[in-house]
This record gives sequence, structure tokens and C-alpha cells, in this order.
Amino acid sequence: MPDTLPEPQAVCNPISRSAIFLVATVSRAEGKADVVRSWCGDIAALVRAVGTRAPSANLSCVCGFGADAWDHLFGAPRPASLHPFREVGSGERRAIATPGDILLHIRADHMDLCFELAAQILDKLGDAVTVVDEVHGFRYFDLRDMVGFVDGTENPTGKSMAKYTLIEEEDPDFAGGSYVIVQKYLHNLDAWNGLTVEQQELIIGREKLSDVELDDSIKPSCSHSSLTTIEENGEEVKILRHNMAFGRPGAKEFGTYFIGYARTPRPIEQMLENMFVGRPPGNYDRLLDYSRVVTGGLFFVPSADLLDALPDRKPDTASSAAGESQQEDSRAGSLNIGSLKGTSHDE
Ligand code: HEM
Repeated sequence: MPDTLPEPQAVCNPISRSAIFLVATVSRAEGKADVVRSWCGDIAALVRAVGTRAPSANLSCVCGFGADAWDHLFGAPRPASLHPFREVGSGERRAIATPGDILLHIRADHMDLCFELAAQILDKLGDAVTVVDEVHGFRYFDLRDMVGFVDGTENPTGKSMAKYTLIEEEDPDFAGGSYVIVQKYLHNLDAWNGLTVEQQELIIGREKLSDVELDDSIKPSCSHSSLTTIEENGEEVKILRHNMAFGRPGAKEFGTYFIGYARTPRPIEQMLENMFVGRPPGNYDRLLDYSRVVTGGLFFVPSADLLDALPDRKPDTASSAAGESQQEDSRAGSLNIGSLKGTSHDE
């Protein structure tokens, strides 16, 4: 990660054992946008206040904004690749878009910390937001997901984590930021567990117990691992996933919360196309025969520096300050706010 990049949010923090995912809509009533803007400046202090009490639990919170919310709360300029979640597929295999203005991805190794932070954060927001989806996630034993496979093995590590997830020179006003796509899947676990382990392994593309990737000679082109391996200009493009299992056995609810970070939404959208439509079309991901997707959202995650500065960024202020900011392009390198550099906002 270049030293000049603004401080990112905790996107690249290690995999945790627990997480809470909150998706909320922002009230369009008078004065509520002010509450949300001002809250942006409080998040880091709340994470410190809760997290310092149990440092070994690695508490973190990543906050993202949907396209409509960004325009409503902060106005122009908008992050270059931010757009509403694009639905893909058809019929029973359709990745749907569902409402959501703010995403909170709260992580820690102990659920009590996630719970406490979620409660404090929501308390500050009051009736300025309505929570439309809340998922409390966990990892099974050796970091397995709800379908019983180790999840996250092929995530980028080391320096490449930042390379694949953080915006750099392609959108200087928003450098240090990321994009994140979330989807909530519900599994038909009876049907999944009715398969043999060998059948499940062919669907995922890895061995279940050892987590070793299947040999190319037996791994089907429709395996989950094949369809989510993509290349751009001859190079593999990775994303960073922090999926979590969730559910309520009493209600026969068994789910996986998918969360993927990248420096543009494009690779994740391509993976979704491959999974839902197929590569080539029809050669789709058989995991979807056992999983139903019930939510979908795309959010922009500002850098931690920009998040801290958002309370001062009212839409009208941003546009009237645009001329001023253009003359002060050098300043944009420090905070990356308020500068209109003529970047394309249509990917
Ligand atoms: C039902 C939801 C899902 C489940 C249970 C699931 C599970 C898994 C598992 C077990 C692996 C193999 C281990 C690993 O490398 O992490 C994997 C790999 C992967 N998944 Fe998923 N996944 C789900 C949805 C998605 C979605 C929606 C995407 C992207 C849009 C995605 C992208 C990937 C990628 C990029 C890999 C690594 C592929 C490789 O390089 O081999 N997954 N997933």
C-alpha cells in the first residue's frame, strides 16, 4: 500500500470468529441527514471505546454507503464506480437487489463486543435510520461456513490484500476507499446434506476435510471455485471475502452471509454473472441449487480519513466548494474530500 494513501477503514483486518452485519435505510425526513453525517465522525471513537476494553478480541467496524444515500447525504463528487446493486440472472437463479443506504460490518473474536458496538452505534443514529437487515454471524470450528467447507482460503494475503481492495490513483478523491457487495443466502441444508461428500466437493471444487483444491483433471468448470476464478488482461483478479455462517435451527434457517471487498465492483459483478448465469451461459454454480439469495447490496467504503471528514460534507457545501477545491488539488492528497477532478462517474 503506498504511504501516501489515506488511512483505510478496517477492510483488511484478519478473519474474525464473530460478526454483525447491519443494513439500514436513512430517513429522508428533515434534519435526519445531519444526524447521520455527524455520526460518521463518531464511529472511530465508539470502536475505540468498546474495543479498548478487550484488546485481544480485535474489534473493528467498516461502514459503507449505497449510491442513493451517498448523493443524498454528501452530494457530488460521487465515487467513480458507485452505482446501485446490479441484478443478474433470471427466474429462480436471480441475484436480487434489496434496499440499503448504510452497511455496517462489525467484527470481533467475541460476539459480546460486536453486540455492544452495534447497540452503541445504533443508539447514536436513533430514528435517523431504520435497520432493514441484521445478521449475527459466526464461524464453525476451523473457520468453516454453513455448508461445512473452510471459507476464505483463497483470499489475498499480505500486500496483495491492499492491492485488490483499496482504491488508488484510478479515483484520487476516494483513494484508500473500497467497494463491498453483500448478499444473504439461505441453504436447503437437508438437500445439501443428502449429497455425498464427493458430490459436495465437486460443487465447491475443494476437498471438504483437508480443504485442498481438487485437481484440474477432476474439478468441473461449473464448480464454485472455477466460476469465481476470473482474469482481466491475462491476470487473476482476487477479492477479499469475510463470509459468515448464521441461522436459527429452531426455525430451520441455515445461512451464509456473503461479503466481498474489492477496489472496483467489477470483479465481484463478473463472479456473480458466472455463478448465476454461467460461464458459458447455462454452466452455472450448482451451489445455487441448494442456496436461495434473499438480499443484495453494493456500498462504497470511504477511507477512515474521509469517514472522519464526512460530517462537514453537506451536498450544497460540497458543490459550492468545488471551485475552491479545484484550485487546491494538492490538498486533496491529504484528505481527499471536496475535489472535483472530472473523473468519470459512470463505469
Ligand atoms: C452461498 C454462498 C457462498 C458460499 C457458501 C461460498 C463458499 C465458498 C467456499 C467454501 C470456497 C472455497 C474456499 C475459499 O477459497 O474460500 C469459496 C471460494 C470462493 N468464493 Fe465463495 N461462497 C459463496 C458465495 C460467493 C459469492 C457470491 C462470491 C462472489 C461473487 C464468491 C466468491 C468466491 C471466490 C472468489 C472464491 C475463491 C475461488 C478460488 O480462487 O479458488 N463466493 N467460496
